[in-house]
Amino acid sequence: MDPRLTIIAHRLENVGRLIAVSGGKGGIGKSSTASILSLSLAKMSYRVGLLDLDFYGPSCHLILGIKGVYPEEEKGIIPPEVSGIRFMSIVYYAEDNPLMARGIDISNSIIELLAITRWGKLDFLIIDMPPGIGDTTLDVIRLLKRIEFLVVTTPSKLALETVKKTLEMLKEAKVPIIGVIENMKVKDSPWIRDEIEKLGVMFLEEIDFDTSLEDCVGDREKLLASPFARDINKIFPKLDLI
Ligand SMILES: Nc1ncnc2c1ncn2[C@@H]1O[C@H](COP(=O)(O)OP(=O)(O)OP(=O)(O)O)[C@@H](O)[C@H]1O
Ligand SMILES: [Mg+2]
Repeated sequence: MDPRLTIIAHRLENVGRLIAVSGGKGGIGKSSTASILSLSLAKMSYRVGLLDLDFYGPSCHLILGIKGVYPEEEKGIIPPEVSGIRFMSIVYYAEDNPLMARGIDISNSIIELLAITRWGKLDFLIIDMPPGIGDTTLDVIRLLKRIEFLVVTTPSKLALETVKKTLEMLKEAKVPIIGVIENMKVKDSPWIRDEIEKLGVMFLEEIDFDTSLEDCVGDREKLLASPFARDINKIFPKLDLI
């Protein structure tokens, strides 16, 4: 029995909801969704934590333009707060070095990160996941008993196929699925919605392809005013906000 597992439960006891933003494929907008969702919830005065668990490609700090602030050590680690978001990422420990880690090292790092971080009282802890349903997903399911998944896809047959696998896996593991977001939509077609609903999963929202998004990266005010954020805000009525 690893004593850190008990500590993790203790560290998260004042966190309302734990939401992992996941998806089958890479580059479909998971980090953008996790970051902008966190930013929008914080703007609405919810207490929000954002944890970037993408060990090979952490990017939430880049999307949100978080620099020059660092976690503080005090009987654990206190995440820095930026625009109302308490932010924690492996990037603070790997710096700009490419991370050379195998599955077991990553598992240990996740346990360590969850065990040392003092989130305090939060309404939401949003977790940005790496692509696919690999070790990190399995660890998150194993370590965080109250985790719920928000799944992202694009209107691509390939993305949809991998998302179907993710959804099947989550269902089998009896993990709650909040629903699916269709990102980077360019054509008005209901086929992704239909396919998701056929699986008995809630289709949450469409996010249009946003040609202005690249210019907003790194600028939190611009992100909040972007069409992407406008579309993300539409899912709030379906999130059972507390
Ligand atoms: N709706 C959108 N419109 C335009 N560009 C988008 C949209 N969503 C995401 N992007 C862009 O697509 C790229 C990938 O997005 P993002 O990093 O959020 O994906 P990801 O799924 O987290 O990728 P990874 O699997 O590598 O972690 C980024 O350059 C982002 O700005
Ligand atoms: Mg990402």
